[in-house]
Amino acid sequence: MSSCTSGTGAESYETAIQNTWRHSKGEPGGQSALLRELVRYATLAPSSHNTQCWRFRIEDAAISILPDLSRRCPVVDPDDHHLFVSLGCSAENLIQAALANGRMGHAAFYTAGGNALRVSLESTHAVTSALFQAIPERQSTRAEYDGKPLARQELELLERAGTGSGVRLIFLTEREAMERVLEYVVQGNTTQMNDRAFVEELKTWIRFSANEAIRTGDGLYSASSGNPSLPPWLGNLLFDLFFTPKNENDRYAKYVRSSAGIAVFVADDAGPAHWIEVGRSYERFALQSAALGIRNAFLNQPVEVAALRPQFAGFLGVGNRRPDLVVRFGRGPKLPPSLLDRRRLVKDMAWSRVLSVGVEEIDEDHRKLVAIFNILNHAVIDRESPEYMAAVLDELNPSS
Ligand SMILES: Cc1cc2nc3c(=O)[nH]c(=O)nc-3n(C[C@H](O)[C@H](O)[C@H](O)COP(=O)(O)O)c2cc1C
Repeated sequence: MSSCTSGTGAESYETAIQNTWRHSKGEPGGQSALLRELVRYATLAPSSHNTQCWRFRIEDAAISILPDLSRRCPVVDPDDHHLFVSLGCSAENLIQAALANGRMGHAAFYTAGGNALRVSLESTHAVTSALFQAIPERQSTRAEYDGKPLARQELELLERAGTGSGVRLIFLTEREAMERVLEYVVQGNTTQMNDRAFVEELKTWIRFSANEAIRTGDGLYSASSGNPSLPPWLGNLLFDLFFTPKNENDRYAKYVRSSAGIAVFVADDAGPAHWIEVGRSYERFALQSAALGIRNAFLNQPVEVAALRPQFAGFLGVGNRRPDLVVRFGRGPKLPPSLLDRRRLVKDMAWSRVLSVGVEEIDEDHRKLVAIFNILNHAVIDRESPEYMAAVLDELNPSS
């Protein structure tokens, strides 16, 4: 990506999206190249504020997806709900791409290993699904849509794709019900925009210019939200002037009224494992809609503002379940895609025979050193406590 930063922002942005939003260039040769390619597909997933809050660890016949807690958004997502939903989206891409490459992915969630989602891969017949084909096409499209309803068969396909294990999908396509959702969106949006901490956190993830988006490889690029691409100093100034509750609420009213419908994802239970399932379900929905040329975008204010959630659940009739995601859909223009940073592999140091000094006792010590280095590396990423770090470092003490 560094070569993309030369030239004008617009030219290099075009190059960057062509390099990012694409299928594999030919067959990946060998298992190691295949696993890296699957990780690349996994990164083409949506994440809250485009934080790309994931890390990947490649094993022999498995890939683990780990939360990157340094990319948390504590204000909008204090309990990491969106963070784990994002990991689920990434896992679904990985599993669809694995199947297209003759590997069946089985996902298992381990709280003990720092909340890792391990996808083990087993050989099978390759199946290139429409969902896999749509991975480079998928987008969170924050634009006005054309207001036309979808065909019944299209709604059925979306419902089938978005219903998951313990995750159900509620469709609202009647105008009256959609107006009720808009009321919740406006209420939630007004609360968030009057919260200084929310606005400050959001601002740290906004990328006002193409060059800024390319440099960071993350965050919310202005043009991907239908706003002009501007030098950061000007973008910051205009943001403070025009990012007002009234302007944003008017924008959301147009978004809702131009949509064909709204889908709400509701899991049977709460907690990271369930939120990952919500992410997998949403991602299948998003890929299915991309395959049909249908756009979608989030309207998550009613589920992000904790005080609103029970009222919204009451409106939906889901009792004390937590509504997880609110998504509008319809047909409309595609916007400039967001940019991604693919350097998220956790590099474990591996001890191999070339490191041997030929003395078993010393080799054994070196193996232990490498293992401790890897544990520390993960502990830093997982933001483990100083006590935990001290206990790991204590392993280096010859008397321990
Ligand atoms: C769990 C989750 C929550 C999200 N919440 C919102 C939201 O409230 N509003 C919004 O406009 N986009 C939301 N997004 C979309 C992300 O901003 C988007 O995925 C990211 O910017 C990358 O863009 P892309 O999806 O087009 O690749 C959310 C995405 C995820 C996975």
